[in-house]
Amino acid sequence: MCGIVGYVGKRRVVPIILEGLKRLEYRGYDSAGLVYLQDGKLHKYRSEGKLANLEEKMEAVADINSGIGLGHTRWATHGAPSERNAHPHTDCTGELVVVHNGIIENYHLLRDGLQARGHIFKSETDTEVLAHLIEEHLDGDLVSAVRKAVALVEGSFGLGVMWTGEPDTLVAARNQSPLVLGVKEGGGCLMASDIPALLPYTNQVVFLDDQELAVLGRKSWRVEELATGKPVSKEIHSIDWNAAMAEKAGYKHFMLKEIYEQPQAILNTYRGRIDPETGGVDLPEIGLNEEQLRGIERIALVACGTSWHAALVAKYWLEKWVGIPVEVDIASEFRYRRLLLNDKVLVIPISQSGETADTLAGLRRAKAMGATVVTICNVVGSTMTREADGVIYTHAGPEIGVASTKAFTCQLTALFLLTLYLGRVRQTLAAADCHELAQGLLSLPAMLEKELPRLQKETAVIAEEFAKSRDFLYLGRGVNFPIALEGALKLKEISYIHAEGYAAGELKHGPIALVDREMPILALVPKDGVYEKVISNVEEVKARRGRLILVGNEGDSNLARIGDSWLSLPDIHEDLAPILYTVPLQLLSYEIASLRGCDVDQPRNLAKSVTVE
Ligand code: AGP
Repeated sequence: MCGIVGYVGKRRVVPIILEGLKRLEYRGYDSAGLVYLQDGKLHKYRSEGKLANLEEKMEAVADINSGIGLGHTRWATHGAPSERNAHPHTDCTGELVVVHNGIIENYHLLRDGLQARGHIFKSETDTEVLAHLIEEHLDGDLVSAVRKAVALVEGSFGLGVMWTGEPDTLVAARNQSPLVLGVKEGGGCLMASDIPALLPYTNQVVFLDDQELAVLGRKSWRVEELATGKPVSKEIHSIDWNAAMAEKAGYKHFMLKEIYEQPQAILNTYRGRIDPETGGVDLPEIGLNEEQLRGIERIALVACGTSWHAALVAKYWLEKWVGIPVEVDIASEFRYRRLLLNDKVLVIPISQSGETADTLAGLRRAKAMGATVVTICNVVGSTMTREADGVIYTHAGPEIGVASTKAFTCQLTALFLLTLYLGRVRQTLAAADCHELAQGLLSLPAMLEKELPRLQKETAVIAEEFAKSRDFLYLGRGVNFPIALEGALKLKEISYIHAEGYAAGELKHGPIALVDREMPILALVPKDGVYEKVISNVEEVKARRGRLILVGNEGDSNLARIGDSWLSLPDIHEDLAPILYTVPLQLLSYEIASLRGCDVDQPRNLAKSVTVE
């Protein structure tokens, strides 16, 4: 996610902002910028790549005598990573400047209108729209102009604004993208996307809430309701985190933070793409028109690791609701085997990083054979997104932990949206079914938000019992078979316990020979079309004194009757179980790995992005 830092006070602003941005580097970024105000003028510096590039550019002004400025590290969502797209962004006059974290969903419409009224845009970003909108409403009062401008915006923003007309004021506004203020006795105020940026300066913080606006001055600050301007009284919190902890927002590991970010990440991925009323989905970025989509005869999904598991789930959804044959390939196999592809085949490489060598090679082979390629990816401007014909971005934000969690559930979200979209375009999915499935998806963020703390507590208890196991077997059937694979991968890659995922129906074809008191067997038993079959499978294990961990529906008496341990989850449409049921498995692997003292965020031998064969 982007990082924002702003300061106004008596001290020299450049070092304060650069230090603050450094403490937000963990959020992941691809460009950076800083602007300060001095002698009535804005002085803006931007650079692609790491902060060091920006620091180099600003060497000569590091000690400049300015006490007000804004800084930003950009995680690209609209417009490739580049100096031109780096924040801050100015209006036409060059006297007003903004930095932004979030997604302006209606920026196309706003931009068209602004351009029609003569505004000249210099970047591809959605953010620049904000600068011109504020400019348009600026009539001597910056706060009023910001209020009127953001009233026209749909989407999320954490926003910082500065204007030469009010050289002692920073304005901050928040809607769904975090912003926190740093305040201090004796004056001087900061604003930032996250606490770490504030800690070198103060541990007294004020959390902005959605639809709030803050006005920061050299000696004072205030918070108002964004819509009405009504004053809001805010509590000042004392932060006792150290900087390292603060980068993880108080979580012990990035992986745990990212597990808890899933409700917001899933919401960010479907936001603006699904009509909550009708369930209708729109994916303009796919790059194919409806006629082309109707002409597709086959889909080939290609990926590695966790992303391959997402592909396996999508096969069930697409074949069920779109009625089209779907092949799923591990990319390292796909890239070398004889492929039967042509322009009637839609190839979908799935990748969090967009740089995985095997998947990229698969993408290139598919393109060379005339297939249409649409990638599902989490990193704007990554190689796959630049080489594919179309891109469906997941909006998980940067995933720092090597073990993929929020990126995976966002891949599933994107694939589910694609299923609904294709089903409606190809008229294989009835409107009523589409609406029901969409409502299920829309219910997930709140459901996960509510269940996560309980699930973490319960998985921690189970982890205590099984952390010393040497082997684990994960079982799932149907659309949840890939989730058994994913659960096993999560466990083995961060706890180093050997774990295998298996189709539950396959147990009697060999693995049942492994059943004993030593090897825990975790089975996914949601009440779906194959529930009775899985119950029979786990009964077979119980009959042989196997130790069972069952994950199923709340209120299912079989969980306690058959399982030695169990986790219960709220009811959800059976097709959405893969997204929901992944989360307790992520938590279980996290808790076991933590108990084993493993390096959860940086497991041995693993890289976040495997850019070599
Ligand atoms: C997931 O937990 C692993 N870190 C790994 O399997 C990963 O999913 C795989 O390397 C693919 O990465 P990608 O999604 O960036 O292409």
